[in-house]
Amino acid sequence: MSADYLLAPSVLSADVLKLKEQVGIVEKNGADWIHVDVMDGHFVPNITFGPFMVRALKNITGLPLDVHLMIESPERYIAEFTTAGADYITVHQEACVHLHRTMQVIKNEGAKAGVTINPATALETIIPALPFADLVLIMSVNPGFGGQQFIPEVVDKIGRLARIKKEKNYSFLIEVDGGINEETGKQVLSAGAEVLVAGNAVFGQSDISAACREMKHIPVG
Ligand code: DX5
Ligand code: ZN
Repeated sequence: MSADYLLAPSVLSADVLKLKEQVGIVEKNGADWIHVDVMDGHFVPNITFGPFMVRALKNITGLPLDVHLMIESPERYIAEFTTAGADYITVHQEACVHLHRTMQVIKNEGAKAGVTINPATALETIIPALPFADLVLIMSVNPGFGGQQFIPEVVDKIGRLARIKKEKNYSFLIEVDGGINEETGKQVLSAGAEVLVAGNAVFGQSDISAACREMKHIPVG
């Protein structure tokens, strides 16, 4: 049985000189969203893309752009990312002093609001934000780099979040990011994940189209 979930390949692992070609390949092979990892060299050690990349991607794909902000004080940049074409904007609870306000700014700007937590951050820290969230991203690696190893302790966190969602009848999607491949994908889907981010497992493979199809059809149950 193939579970019903969304696949969001992360362009962090794509070849930036072949971005148009590679995004076109995943678009034709089951990708539902394109995940864009924005890093500032402060919140995480790495530096990656800014709004210009979101704008460039918007011009080459019709898929929703799922923008993951790994930056300090993300509220300063929300308008730039929505203007560039971000459909979902996800901020880290750890980087927001006023989380509700930041999520409200995202919604006021016309995008869907996501919140995320690092593997060592307790689920309890985002419970007050859940009624306002369109997307909840559970990090399954410490953010900063592609190709890291999945941290299995987060499976329990995903299960607890899925139970809370059901009990309270919340509408957010549960997304998981970091170290997702067929094996770990199966584990998180069984726990209740609804959106899988995959960098290395899609763009890091020699046959991107086959890898994308495989990641979109993980058998569960
Ligand atoms: C990690 C990023 C991820 C990354 C995932 O900091 O948030 O989105 O691209 O890459 P993989 O799937 O290779 O772990
Ligand atoms: Zn990410």
